[in-house]
Amino acid sequence: MSAHGTPQPMTALPSGPLSGIADVPGDKSISHRSLILGAMCVGETRITGLLEGDDVLDTAKAMRAFGAEVEQTGPGEWRVRGVGVGGFAEPDGVIDCGNSGTGVRLIMGAMATQPITATFTGDASLNSRPMARITDPIALFGAQAVGRSGGRLPMTIVGAADPVPVNYTVPMPSAQVKSAVLLAGLNAPGQTVVIEKEATRDHTERMLAGFGAEITTEQTSEGRVITLTGQPELTPQDIAVPRDPSSAAFPVAVALMVPGSDVLIPNIGLNPTRAGLFATLQEMGADLTFQNERTEGGEPVADLRARYGPLQGIEVPAHRAPSMIDEYPILSAIAATANGRTVMTGIKELRVKESDRIDAMARGLEACGVTIEETEDSMTVHGLGQGGVPGGATCESRLDHRIAMSFLCLGFAAKKPITVDDAGPVATSFPIFEALMTALGAKLTHEHGG
Ligand code: S3P
Repeated sequence: MSAHGTPQPMTALPSGPLSGIADVPGDKSISHRSLILGAMCVGETRITGLLEGDDVLDTAKAMRAFGAEVEQTGPGEWRVRGVGVGGFAEPDGVIDCGNSGTGVRLIMGAMATQPITATFTGDASLNSRPMARITDPIALFGAQAVGRSGGRLPMTIVGAADPVPVNYTVPMPSAQVKSAVLLAGLNAPGQTVVIEKEATRDHTERMLAGFGAEITTEQTSEGRVITLTGQPELTPQDIAVPRDPSSAAFPVAVALMVPGSDVLIPNIGLNPTRAGLFATLQEMGADLTFQNERTEGGEPVADLRARYGPLQGIEVPAHRAPSMIDEYPILSAIAATANGRTVMTGIKELRVKESDRIDAMARGLEACGVTIEETEDSMTVHGLGQGGVPGGATCESRLDHRIAMSFLCLGFAAKKPITVDDAGPVATSFPIFEALMTALGAKLTHEHGG
């Protein structure tokens, strides 16, 4: 939905071939962390390439409410004057994190070990998502939380006045939970230890090291053991945010699904904890070339060229799920145009994202004429081959940007147009989606049903 709450239908028409350069926006995960860590050190952090999507702008507003100075100095260029570890002020009003689970969960962690109280809320999607995964570990530091039934927002957190460090094993694969605990650990004296059984995105660890915190990661039989020494003096940074591989997934997908397409996506982040989709697509036979592989700002980066070619369904290994957790919606759309079955397992976390993404994709794909099987933690798509997806349906986006974009991308490759009932959520992570796709030659209209 738009900020005004009016649904914005959008229709993707059969298109192609698609070609050109796709400059996708900055990485959402790194953008949130840049603002939050910038707010947690004394001095000026300069950020270029920040994602200016609604989610990140809500985090910028929140950091101002906690006392940091946050200002835009140019397109994608931002300056944060932070207040230091433990220096957050108590916000005057309610912190509205909009649609952003990452924003609210990381900020709750960051304030949980400071002697202040803050109340958080969000949109209907965010207010239905589980927060016990954050309130459980921050309680160990000494913070208290009161929210709605089921541990849902709106919720008030009373930060610990005398925090103690914790040793916490994250019960589900979640970079948000791991990061919330690490951010809370910043203002606890002594060593906070976080253990994750499966590796999730490690931007927080990399960035904390970059800001000068003492942080180590060790691979043990229990999993990744991350040890952070609390109460460091963080040093402000100049951060160049790489382009978001999760956003790059959409132009990659259209290039692979629409015959004759050839798209170059420059400068995308290829952190191994994020790049699972590309390995999966290569196993399906995708023509992907990584050019100019390099390291920028502590993150591996490359230019990615994607060209059309027929794809084959595969079984995606369950252990790969954390490294491509946000990409299953678009993968399921791509799988619908592949030959044969694509089996995705170990994906139960998809049920608690911005929407229940297994259900949202299954119902929408069925409406488009694709056969799906689902269990609590898996989804199987029976591919219809290139040009085989009937389309001609309206799919619900359920306040979920990635669901909306996945069905629109499928619409370019289907026999008949595909409409999403509301493309408003796309602005949370990919505000230039329509302009970028149109520039590649894709046909989008604001009409219902094309
Ligand atoms: C994110 C972690 C993931 C991901 C989200 C961004 C992050 O969530 O789905 O889009 O920036 O830490 P989980 O931690 O719930 O897996």
